Amino acid sequence: MVFDSKFENGRVVTPDGVQTDVSIGVSDGTIAAVGEPAELGSADRVIDLDGQYLLPGVIDCHVHVREPGYEHKEDWSTATAAAAAGGVTTLIAMPNTDPMIDSPETIEQVFEIADGSAHVDFQSYAVLTSDNYDQVEPLAEAGVAGFKVFLGTTFGEIEPPDDGELYAAMQDAAAAKRRIGFHEENDEILKHFEAKFKAEGHNDPIAHSHSRPVVAEAEAVSRIMLLADHAECPVHMFHLSSGTGAELVVRGKEDGVNVTAETCPHYLWFTEEVMNEKGNVARVQPPIRNADERERLWETGIYGGGVDCIATDHAPHTDEEKNIGDPFDDTWKSISGFVGLESEVGAMATFASEGRISLEQWAYMHSTRPAQIWGLYPQKGSLQVGTDADFTIVDPDTEWVAKKEDLRSKSKTTPFNDEEFVGKPTMTVVRGAVTYEDGEIQVEEGFGEVVLAGDTTSNAKPRGGPGN
Ligand code: NCD
Ligand code: ZN
Repeated sequence: MVFDSKFENGRVVTPDGVQTDVSIGVSDGTIAAVGEPAELGSADRVIDLDGQYLLPGVIDCHVHVREPGYEHKEDWSTATAAAAAGGVTTLIAMPNTDPMIDSPETIEQVFEIADGSAHVDFQSYAVLTSDNYDQVEPLAEAGVAGFKVFLGTTFGEIEPPDDGELYAAMQDAAAAKRRIGFHEENDEILKHFEAKFKAEGHNDPIAHSHSRPVVAEAEAVSRIMLLADHAECPVHMFHLSSGTGAELVVRGKEDGVNVTAETCPHYLWFTEEVMNEKGNVARVQPPIRNADERERLWETGIYGGGVDCIATDHAPHTDEEKNIGDPFDDTWKSISGFVGLESEVGAMATFASEGRISLEQWAYMHSTRPAQIWGLYPQKGSLQVGTDADFTIVDPDTEWVAKKEDLRSKSKTTPFNDEEFVGKPTMTVVRGAVTYEDGEIQVEEGFGEVVLAGDTTSNAKPRGGPGN
């Protein structure tokens, strides 16, 4: 058999191990063979990876694409170009758009926009609010990967549903075999301290962080897990920021709650000191925590099984909206969120180069696990024969400094600007097509396709320790 393409001489990374003695043959967009180089057969295009890593395509399950409604911040074309350049092969879009993604019609609208402009594959969440919490079944049937509930008010000013509405939605999500993910912060605690700090004139960037204390996250995690346990609903913690939160998730898993969690590279990389160093550039919700919380997030989250996956919470805003002309100006004049699609693979590669995470666990947390959590596995997130040929190729030896002017996102604001990385994404492959290579996007807008999502209730088994 002559393959369309063949990937040779790579270090092939999966959750099960790193192999240097296999080549991968690709035909018609899927993996046709994985085997010994000498026996694999020829191909129209042979790609010599020269020792680079080949991971199952990285999946970012937390991306604020912003279109429809906020195209001045980002749109489907720019977000997915950033994804391709960042080594991301599939993204799942957040529903705090305008209109919000909250009905079968708006789901159809967003899939149609994405279908015409995406450079990589995609899925979306639908939001659940007081107005549509009883619409879980029709929304699931419209094809979304899962649901998002904003418990803490954030961009889009979406008010949380009350606990009764939430519990009812959880029962329906359990029946529809869909997972609900949360912005897990207690809204009353946030609002209390924001008002207090403003009244007292606490305006420096770190005041924003301190107005959203760890207990706000801990209370929300605990409440969600209690309700989910009774409703037998699978739940997901988006952007878990603290060791305290991770410790609660571990306990929930041990108690049999079907709970999964993600953290973001910024919570693992920085401490809250970044607010004093980079100001409101690093302002984000939930905030970046102190060194003790970060340490325990590594211990209990990454090594102890509390965190399942890595995602960015890519949240673009304009420079004016973030008020970063003067990054140490009054934090209440700024806005939370920053971009991440083009630094997440570099950040994880750097952790791997430092021996802080094994290559196997990186592939698990950045590809396999998010695919399982959101019902995309094994079509996405695996290197099994017959599945989509999605690869993230990383040169582990390139040392580079992230520069905002190189970004493809409309927003250039990120605390990773000027940070040093070891390991860089060099080529991105989606369904067998090279979407990014030699610093350039290689496919047209509209190449990306929606990924059909299946059952997202598969139980979350705690996995701990590097290499697990
Ligand atoms: C996000 C945004 O801007 O949409 N902002 C943020 O600080 N994380 C919203 C969110 O994920 O909470
Ligand atoms: Zn959020």
